[in-house]
Amino acid sequence: MEKNEIKPANGKLGILTPGIGAVSTTFMAGVIASQKGLGSPIGSISMMGRIRLGKRTENKKPLVKDFVPLASLDNLVFGGWDIRPANAYKAAKKAGVLDLKLLKKIKTELKQIKPMKAVFDSKYVKNLKGDYIKKEESKFDYAKALMADIKSFKEENSCDRLVMVWCGSTEVYIQESEVHQSIEKFEEGLKNNDPSISPSMIYTYAAIKSGVPYVNGAPNLSCDIPAIVELAKQENVPIAGKDFKTGQTLMKTILAPGFKTRLLGIDGWFSTNILGNRDGEVLDDAASFKTKEVSKLSVLDSIFETDEYPELYKDLYHKVRINYYPPKGDDKESWDNIDIFGWLGYKMQVKVNFLCKDSILAAPVVLDLALFIDLAQRAGMKGIQEWLSFYLKSPQTKDGLEPIHDVFKQKIKMENTLRHIMGEELITHLGLDYYEEEE
Ligand SMILES: NC(=O)c1ccc[n+]([C@@H]2O[C@H](COP(=O)([O-])OP(=O)(O)OC[C@H]3O[C@@H](n4cnc5c(N)ncnc54)[C@H](O)[C@@H]3O)[C@@H](O)[C@H]2O)c1
Repeated sequence: MEKNEIKPANGKLGILTPGIGAVSTTFMAGVIASQKGLGSPIGSISMMGRIRLGKRTENKKPLVKDFVPLASLDNLVFGGWDIRPANAYKAAKKAGVLDLKLLKKIKTELKQIKPMKAVFDSKYVKNLKGDYIKKEESKFDYAKALMADIKSFKEENSCDRLVMVWCGSTEVYIQESEVHQSIEKFEEGLKNNDPSISPSMIYTYAAIKSGVPYVNGAPNLSCDIPAIVELAKQENVPIAGKDFKTGQTLMKTILAPGFKTRLLGIDGWFSTNILGNRDGEVLDDAASFKTKEVSKLSVLDSIFETDEYPELYKDLYHKVRINYYPPKGDDKESWDNIDIFGWLGYKMQVKVNFLCKDSILAAPVVLDLALFIDLAQRAGMKGIQEWLSFYLKSPQTKDGLEPIHDVFKQKIKMENTLRHIMGEELITHLGLDYYEEEE
């Protein structure tokens, strides 16, 4: 196979996160701690994963980072925006995910990460207040102000390349409308302050216009509109979204493919969560929760192929609840009650009680997405990067193309894409050739 032309990962890679909150500071602190030998980037495929090459008999399983040219952790620089001026040390302390003992050891580095003033409007995130916010006339001016931030960050930090990963709060539910349909209409809407253009879309536009790859870690539309997809292709910029796959949905996309593979039927799947961080507070607002709910609900129908297997899944009752409960902090607790049935319709139940740390699960996802979308750009890939759906709860795909939610299929897709980029043979798992050779 022919290898993609890949530009080397020379120089510094700047990772910009709109939102310097629990997820982004846990990610940044984790990378800095790993650089200093204070911890391991556990959960990161780009840092710790191996990839099989060739036949099983060849025993070739290099580390992913030795196989594909990725930016090294030593060459990462962090920046971002928030509606509050707290630096990453203060924000991490407030988030309360990581031990103060660890944070103090990397205080100098974290204190240097200071947010730039945000593009924010409380109409789109109701339960948040902040005053570290840009003031401009039109949404188009906001986009220009963000582009100026991006340019000066790149120059001041001597970065070779940048990527942007949305780690900001979940915005209220917005459906795709006319203004999202083409670049022209979207730009017109920016100039006319169209209410269907949310702050996250303005960041997206600014990133892509600046040639910066964009990943959306929240469930709001952001880069998932035709105008931005078109713009990304036009500007040769890769994009991916949406909503980091962590916590309960990660468990769901691990368990559901197992039930489906053995053709066990499901009557109902009730999922409830309690969490007490700021994300939980934002999701306590019905309009932001709606965005999250749509993202979380989409998963099961696709894994179970409800239309193709009506006898097993047509009556599946799927309910997702999130409740804000301050004592839990970032330590989310979720319960799943799954009513399944087997041979002759006999009923069984599976109960899952997951005591998870959301940001601990999200941090390696941010790292991998940042490094892989940078690789995609250096390999000349543009537009939607479906192969990164492994990390995302509600994968963005081409219009009309059904997303894949099964985490194991997503992993195979991602590995084959890396092999494809490097000109290696793809692995189909057929394996008949091992036996044919014996005859
Ligand atoms: N933690 C997870 O496992 C997980 C999983 C999937 C998705 N997410 C999503 O990731 C996002 C971040 O989660 P978190 O736990 O870090 O939340 P958080 O509340 O701790 O951090 C979000 C930060 O974004 C800032 N913000 C909001 N709007 C902004 C804007 N327009 N510009 C700049 N900053 C803005 C807030 O002030 C806050 O500091 C949320 O949207 C969440 O739903 C998180």
